[in-house]
Amino acid sequence: MTEQVYILFCESPFQANKVDEDFEDEFIAAKENGFGTLLFNFEDLVSLDRSSVATKRIRPNDKPANVIYRGWMLTPKQYSILYNDLWSKNFNLINPVVAYQNCHYLPDSLKFIKDRTPKTVFEKFDDEKSIDKLIEKSQIFGQNPVILKDYVKSEKHDWATACFVADASDTSKLRKSITKLIELRDKYLNEGIVVRAFVALNDLTIHSKSGMPLTEEYRLFFCNKKLVGIYDYWEEGDYKLAKPDTTEFEAIARSVESNFFSMDIARQKNGDLIIIELGDGQVAGLPDKTSRSEFYERLQICCR
Ligand SMILES: Nc1ncnc2c1ncn2[C@@H]1O[C@H](COP(=O)(O)OP(=O)(O)O)[C@@H](O)[C@H]1O
Ligand SMILES: [Mg+2]
Repeated sequence: MTEQVYILFCESPFQANKVDEDFEDEFIAAKENGFGTLLFNFEDLVSLDRSSVATKRIRPNDKPANVIYRGWMLTPKQYSILYNDLWSKNFNLINPVVAYQNCHYLPDSLKFIKDRTPKTVFEKFDDEKSIDKLIEKSQIFGQNPVILKDYVKSEKHDWATACFVADASDTSKLRKSITKLIELRDKYLNEGIVVRAFVALNDLTIHSKSGMPLTEEYRLFFCNKKLVGIYDYWEEGDYKLAKPDTTEFEAIARSVESNFFSMDIARQKNGDLIIIELGDGQVAGLPDKTSRSEFYERLQICCR
């Protein structure tokens, strides 16, 4: 008999012992595919004074069992609290904290993907001086366009004011956009700011609400170095395209120090595929069109 693997979900903020409704479809699909399920309180975990009670309804297991979290993003610090709490109850999260950070923070991912991802500079954000340093580093991009994000997320829906800068040598526009990004990320700013070479991607359409260009992108998931699946990234747009060959990305994935992660790839206008970013597989969203039951069926196979 194979060992029972558990999927850990967030409970509803309104009702204990019920899964967060945004993950209800995944919860059902996980159960149907033979996973055990666990719930914890996300709001408690991310609060300053209640994190120690977040897993209080999870009873210690009599023998060690493996657990995969599927839920909202956590900072590495919050993840480490969850990791240690579960460990003390004989539940072993699939990724140690270092592995979580490897794919969660773009600067930490670069060591695995730098040959296949746009050129990137970054700076931890402390104060205005950090912005000066980052602008200095960004001069390697010359007059070329760049994209901004924090160590985890962009403000891509504010594309023109906080994400895309048409000319990196226009330092006043660059500073304005970095400042806007910091203002929008506000208390959710992750560590620092990243500036990346903008590359022309193969257009699908323009986002109906934000005006952001939607381009040919796919999200791949890898578990225990095996490809779980490759999924269309956007729900809008025309994906009547053959899915790309993933062989070379599967090879790169084998070098990534994480047991469960996502890899976003995109097609450039010249046809070549690049990696946009990695993400921890536990907090990477499943694209809307992805069949939840197929995903968990594949995940179960990759866990064996
Ligand atoms: N270097 C780049 N060149 C061109 N487009 C990019 C680049 N990086 C990101 N994008 C576009 O911006 C979107 C958001 O970037 P991403 O790094 O994935 O941020 P987020 O973490 O917010 O998802 C991507 O899905 C892609 O369409
Ligand atoms: Mg992304």
